[in-house]
Amino acid sequence: MAVDSFPTVGEACTQKDNAMIIGIPKESFPGEQRVALVPAVLPSLAKAGCEALVEAGAGAAAFWPDAAYVEKGGRIAASRAELFASAEAVFQVLAHGANDRTGRADLPLLRRGQVLIGFLRPLASPETVLEIAATGAVAFAVELMPRITRAQSMDALSSMATVAGYKAVLLAADILPRMFPMLMTAAGTVTPARVLIVGAGVAGLQAIATARRLGAVVSAYDVRPATKDEVRSLGARFIELPLEAADAEDVGGYAKAQDESFYRRQRELLARVVAETDVVITTALVPGKKAPVLITNDMVAGMAPGSVIVDLAAERGGNCELTRAYETVVEHGVTIIGAVNLAGSVPYHASQMYARNITAFFLHLVKSGSLQVSLDDEITRATLLTREGEVVHPRVREALGLPALEVPAPAGKS
Ligand code: NAI
Repeated sequence: MAVDSFPTVGEACTQKDNAMIIGIPKESFPGEQRVALVPAVLPSLAKAGCEALVEAGAGAAAFWPDAAYVEKGGRIAASRAELFASAEAVFQVLAHGANDRTGRADLPLLRRGQVLIGFLRPLASPETVLEIAATGAVAFAVELMPRITRAQSMDALSSMATVAGYKAVLLAADILPRMFPMLMTAAGTVTPARVLIVGAGVAGLQAIATARRLGAVVSAYDVRPATKDEVRSLGARFIELPLEAADAEDVGGYAKAQDESFYRRQRELLARVVAETDVVITTALVPGKKAPVLITNDMVAGMAPGSVIVDLAAERGGNCELTRAYETVVEHGVTIIGAVNLAGSVPYHASQMYARNITAFFLHLVKSGSLQVSLDDEITRATLLTREGEVVHPRVREALGLPALEVPAPAGKS
């Protein structure tokens, strides 16, 4: 079936008395404190003819009370079921797929043509996308937002990585039995903490900046040579390893996977640096792959007792061999934090950033007063997972072993 044979979704939403209702359910993943929309973005949605219907207490854990939503023109829903029944679009932080504990409970509440926007982890759990498709909902995965200038304001992944990089440093500083800054006191000089950041992407760069603000001496390494200048501009030392990555970067700017002999050599070369470091923060990821193991058991054993490793790649298997996702373990006297969802532990600002990203994305979909889901648009094409009962995203279809859909030529081209 040709993808463009699907009808345009949504109703005109310019009239105030016929506002498009956006539902904001309370996040249900255990311990999740973020909320998908904060009150401050409601006026810009109202300008586009949309009204927020919020589940009672949805923003409470992020310190956005119900009254603040009402003050900005939102309404509080009588129940979660009423919210899903009334909403034409539902915004979540962790939707089914990304919420592998309780997300499934929302499936019976979704309906045909209803828009769902959130983290859906479609490539890691494509079978959950099939379940969403079966509801007939029109689902968008924000983690698939293309890294193009036009979509920068919609890039929720970068927002959450920024918060995580910041928080990782604070966790390490809290546990480290040393102070971060150099201090010259009447009791003598305190030497600064030495911090190593492995992987200088969005999270790593924010970790560098945060550790520098606390006064640490910071070094960083990334397989992509393009990061050198960024690392240096933040006042950190870029570690040059005599290691040539074959084709380090793909066209999207992401790191490419290297072979095992590269990673082995990288570990050998990093071992000496790690041994002289008080805090290691690892963020190294390659899209679609398990995180490369860059810190081995022996390397941890070589660190001074009391040192700290925060592994931001924990959820994808970890950059440290000893990491256990969701857990903090002590091995060889070194504390290893298997950090998952650190952004969720800074819920006020993480929600604010997410709300701005998702609002920018939604308003991008609203054209001339109605919601347009056009595959001519690169942002829509990259993020749209399901509609009219079908999984339409090519990579997810491939992951599910489904045949490719016939893709229509962009408008204006034959
Ligand atoms: P990521 O979260 O996929 O990976 C984190 C970092 O780990 C990357 O910098 C990667 O090069 C590094 N890495 C991978 N393997 C490694 C290894 N063996 N050793 C050391 N480091 C390793 O990446 P993130 O943070 O999502 O950013 C990736 C790219 O996307 C960058 O080029 C960034 O500039 C770009 N970007 C573009 C945006 C835009 O244009 N809107 C927004 C955000 C990021």
